Amino acid sequence: MEQKTEVMGEAAVPTQEPERQMYFMEQVKALVKRRSEEKGRPLTCCINTFGCQMNARDSEKLLGILEQIGYVESDSEDADFVLYNTCTVRDNANQKVYGRLGYLQTIKRKHPDMLIALCGCMMQEATAVEKVKKSYSHVDIIFGTHNIFKLAELLYRKLAGEKMVIDIWEGTDEIVEDLPIERKYPFKSGVNIMFGCNNFCSYCIVPYVRGRERSRKPEDIIAEIRRLVADGVVEIMLLGQNVNSYGKNLEHPVTFAQLLRQINEIEGLERIRFMTSHPKDLSKELIQAMKDCEKVCNHLHLPLQSGSSRVLKVMNRRYTKEDYLALVDRIREAVPDIALTTDIIVGFPGETEEDFQETLDVVRRVRYDSAFTFIYSIRTGTPAAAMEQVPEEIVKDRFDRLLAEVQKISGEVCGRDAGTVQKVLVECLDDHKEGYVTGRLTNNTVVHFPGDASVIGKIVDVYLEESKGFYYMGKPVENMEG
Ligand code: 5AD
Ligand code: SF4
Repeated sequence: MEQKTEVMGEAAVPTQEPERQMYFMEQVKALVKRRSEEKGRPLTCCINTFGCQMNARDSEKLLGILEQIGYVESDSEDADFVLYNTCTVRDNANQKVYGRLGYLQTIKRKHPDMLIALCGCMMQEATAVEKVKKSYSHVDIIFGTHNIFKLAELLYRKLAGEKMVIDIWEGTDEIVEDLPIERKYPFKSGVNIMFGCNNFCSYCIVPYVRGRERSRKPEDIIAEIRRLVADGVVEIMLLGQNVNSYGKNLEHPVTFAQLLRQINEIEGLERIRFMTSHPKDLSKELIQAMKDCEKVCNHLHLPLQSGSSRVLKVMNRRYTKEDYLALVDRIREAVPDIALTTDIIVGFPGETEEDFQETLDVVRRVRYDSAFTFIYSIRTGTPAAAMEQVPEEIVKDRFDRLLAEVQKISGEVCGRDAGTVQKVLVECLDDHKEGYVTGRLTNNTVVHFPGDASVIGKIVDVYLEESKGFYYMGKPVENMEG
């Protein structure tokens, strides 16, 4: 506690970012070092990430800061610093966090100087923060989605003696560049191109917790990717809630298609993925860029949400069933073997059996490689929360029928490359079969084949011997006879 006066000479604290955080990282590093010397071992940290790829990327940034400060990553939640990066897109994500917090309390009783922090989307909701304050007083630090770059400063305040440090921002225009990042995989990485969402689909809480759209400057994105490639990355996933509206709010507007073409030129980069595309903003220019750019993967995630034009209107999706199907046709015409995946919500308020049949109809026509299917979850504060809800048994029944259809089709389409040689980016050792590795095709389908750790991160030609529905068993081409 005495450190507050010792090191916190206000005049010395930079006001600009990222210098300010660099300053706090140095301060906390000294405190962590002292604690670690007292304990005679390094201090450990554990980040538990809930939700989407954006959160996964945020967690890499948070880990980058923690490692810079001197923490060593641990898989166990019995760590000196435990951080939950939360999600609130559906209620079950929130319930999981409350459940885990109860469990952490029992660990903290045995390990009282452990620090617990919460951040991410759920913390942008006032009701969640109130609940944590009231019922989970063992939490030490709470912050949101807009200020994850401030972790070192918040940790400093905690170590300097504040009881529960809470720092939630309503929104921000600020994008802080150049802080440390610790990647999970050496050979692939997410790259944020934009933050936030302006769409306000009527069921969705994301615009409320992630704020308005902000795009990073193309030069910052390109520089980051170049650095990643120099560090061994061959595949990147461009991340944004709605990548198709990238660049509209920049001082010098740039389209997503233009950005893709620039990234495609980066030497040493092999594969480009992106997520998520909103059908209403997927331009002809983008389809042409996908066709022209050889590094852009043969996969498009195109959330449908519902196949009923009536429901889509109430969802505020701003396309009809016909618009969506026509878009799929245009994409397939340009890139015939593209794998399409989607998100579908079942049981949106007012959904009738006829509406649901329209969704099944789109699923049968598009024949997705895979689909994430969700039961509608009421999000307080969104327009759909106030609408008349569909009874639970009906939703459950529709969900089961949709899942069966999706799985049947996916089993049929995923095997279409069996008997051919394809490029596989090897990701890891196979956890089910000794002497095998696991990788992905450009269309994202998983392949297992004989290999060892030396091929991880490499792109290998593999003969796809057998389709098992959702994955292939293969053989590296060098090992084949003849
Ligand atoms: N209930 C169920 N699913 C939802 N999603 C977003 N909000 C909700 C909700 N309230 C789904 C959408 C989106 C995906 C990330 O989560 O399908 O595309
Ligand atoms: Fe949510 Fe719609 Fe924005 Fe996607 S586009 S994050 S579903 S509001």
